[in-house]
Order: sequence, then structure tokens, then C-alpha cells
Amino acid sequence: MTISLPGFPSGWLKLALSAAILALGALAISPLASPVQAQDTAAAEIDPALVEQGFKVWKGQDCIGCHGWAGNGERIGENPTGPSLRALEYDAATLKEIILCGRPGTAMPSHDPRAYSDDRCYGMTKADLAGVNLLKGRDMSDAEADALVAYMMESMLGHPNQPSQEDCKAYYGGKPFCSKYPTAESQGF
Ligand code: HEC
Repeated sequence: MTISLPGFPSGWLKLALSAAILALGALAISPLASPVQAQDTAAAEIDPALVEQGFKVWKGQDCIGCHGWAGNGERIGENPTGPSLRALEYDAATLKEIILCGRPGTAMPSHDPRAYSDDRCYGMTKADLAGVNLLKGRDMSDAEADALVAYMMESMLGHPNQPSQEDCKAYYGGKPFCSKYPTAESQGF
């Protein structure tokens, strides 16, 4: 097979092709070959310091009341039920906008203290949304939102819906009750 592309030396092309074939082979033998895994590979490049910072934001914010400590939709007590966040396939920018702007007319609150005071959220203001219920959550800065998104992309999105022992230990610091969850390995993750 010979393919020639203008501007690319053929040696480079061969290398690129064999890398692509190797990558395809790896996907084919993997039990979890799916777009989720591709996303996770990308997530592995997220700055660990930012993820750590985002974990603190997650713990200190209001999210877990409705979405559960693992973001799997197991609310705490009588809070409104938030959907699982582990199944989401959003990119970082979309996730950040939803977090800062909430979902007007639903129980998902905004966290940007200035949401809807101008058109920063979905291009809409309070006036555009007259009559729609706009809930306000706990205030979050832009930098906190970036950190939170990094944490969620790394340790939540694309993960199995059922949290693992490792997730529980990371959140609760190794409490005995974490053993009731399956290990990440048994989840094939
Ligand atoms: C008072 C309950 C509540 C709180 C607090 C809350 N959420 Fe939500 N969240 C919801 C509900 C309900 C929805 C579903 C909204 C809808 O119907 O579109 C939702 C939706 C979302 C979505 C979109 C899910 C989807 O399927 O598209 C994301 C992302 C999200 N929440 C993240 C967060 C984060 C992060 C926090 C904390 C900063 C948070 N939420 C705080 C209740 C809540």
C-alpha cells in the first residue's frame, strides 16, 4: 500500500500509520474498548495539582447533596435528586458552563454569583428568563470552577456508575464501610 500526501515525507507517514495500527490493535484487545476509554486517556493529561484543588471544591460545594459524594446521583437526605454525573460525555467547557450557570427552570442551581446579571450564561439575562425559576447555589469563582471541572473529568466522567472502593477511600479517607464497594479492578477499570 502506498499513499502519498503532499508535504509529508513518506517515512513519517509510515510511522504514523504503524502507530495508528498499533493503537487500533490495543483497542481491539481491550475489554473496555469504547469512546469512554479514549476520553479517559485524554483525562490522564490533566494537571494533578488542579485535580487535587478541584477535589476540595467538590467536597466543599453543594453538589453532593443532590448528586451524591461519588456524583452517581445518590442524593443525601431530602435534597432534590440530581442525575448521575459519571455517565456524562461533556467536554470541559460545556461542563463548566452548566456548573456556573445551572439549568434554568430545574433544581440545578447556578454557582457564578453574577449568573444572569449579564448574558454570560447561555447568552441570557434574568429579563430573558422572566417567569423561569432561577436557583442560586453556593458561590464559586472561575478558578474554582476550572479546578472542579478538572477533578470531575479525571475522577468522575466516564467512570462506572457504581463507585469503587478506591473512589470511596479517596473521598472518605479509607473508612471501613468502603469495603462494601467493588474494587476498581473487579469493575475492569
Ligand atoms: C439542589 C440540587 C442540586 C445541586 C446543589 C447541584 N445540582 Fe447539578 N443537577 C441537579 C438536577 C436536578 C439536575 C438535572 C437538571 C435538568 O433537568 O436538566 C442537575 C444537572 C447537573 C448537570 C448536567 C447533567 C446532565 O445530565 O446534563 C451537571 C454537570 C451538574 N448538575 C453538576 C453539578 C455540580 C458540579 C454541582 C455542584 C457545584 C451541582 N450540580 C449542584 C441538581 C443539583
